[in-house]
Amino acid sequence: MKVGVLTAGGDCPGLNAAIRGVVARVTGGGGECVGIQKGWRGLMEGLVRPLTRDDVRGILYQGGTILGTSRMDPYVHGNGYESVRETVESAGIDSLVVIGGDGSLRTAARLEAEGLPVVGVPKTIDNDIPGTDVTFGFHTAVQIVTDAIDRLTTTAESHNRVMVVEVMGRTAGWIAAYAGIAGGAEAILVPEVEYDLDDLAERLRRRHKAGHDYSIVVVAEGTPTPEGDPATRGVDAYGFARLGGVGNVIAAELERLTGYECRVMTLGYLQRGGTPTAYDRILATRLGLAAGALAVAGESGVMVAVDGEDIVPVPLSVVDQPPRQLDTARMEDAAWFFA
Ligand code: F6P
Repeated sequence: MKVGVLTAGGDCPGLNAAIRGVVARVTGGGGECVGIQKGWRGLMEGLVRPLTRDDVRGILYQGGTILGTSRMDPYVHGNGYESVRETVESAGIDSLVVIGGDGSLRTAARLEAEGLPVVGVPKTIDNDIPGTDVTFGFHTAVQIVTDAIDRLTTTAESHNRVMVVEVMGRTAGWIAAYAGIAGGAEAILVPEVEYDLDDLAERLRRRHKAGHDYSIVVVAEGTPTPEGDPATRGVDAYGFARLGGVGNVIAAELERLTGYECRVMTLGYLQRGGTPTAYDRILATRLGLAAGALAVAGESGVMVAVDGEDIVPVPLSVVDQPPRQLDTARMEDAAWFFA
């Protein structure tokens, strides 16, 4: 049994731990692994290399992906299964483990429907993939943002400023809500909950007049601006909007409404880089092992998912559902600490 592994879409901490898990499980059970480099592009262009247990030693704690990734896609930039068939056949791939976000997993499902045996592993810092309680990468991103908020708080306090911190998450507010709670933010704006800037300005005034004359406001990148649409910066390879810029709009409005000095910190790709937390290493390892076991057992059309404390297989078609939105009970928790 020869299992191919690829990482596709945006990177996130824990990808190497997941690759290592797949390889350990497949080779440990007598199978063989090959790595496809640069995501779907590698499957289209024949970028395949052997992946032994030795090749994945020492990568557990490394950020990024040893296989590389790309935003290229056989259905967007090629003609579907036909554009990967040659690589699959010449490399002798019996099953493909795809470690990807919802876009890459939807592509995996389409290839599966055309006859390629596939097992999916969900990954993203955004935590928005349907069918799983959590994705690896998320906790690391939350930790990075929390560390940044801790630092931004001391400079905001020194200068009596409002610091608006824009974080990733696409259409979901998971990172914003969790890091906002962990960092003790004064306000958290997310796509799932409407906000009122006049109310927020009033809250900030109350807090600052009471002597706490600095504030942290966390804004998820997908939060609509007061005009009603999210701020965007062009489109990605799939034609989807690239989000970003809402922090600047919110900061300008808050400065106008309160007269307080407002600054913006867009954390951007820092949230995706570097070593995964212990939690994400363990989660990614377990998901990789489970995916390897399913591939070896000849299962296909499934995604490994987190259900409570367990890793379970779910139909890959689950990724056709809309992105998993923030549980807004977290926003209610956060609100008890607002002025
Ligand atoms: O999905 C992960 C993510 O980091 C989002 O939070 C962000 O909107 C997007 O990817 C950025 O994508 P790119 O790497 O294409 O700039």
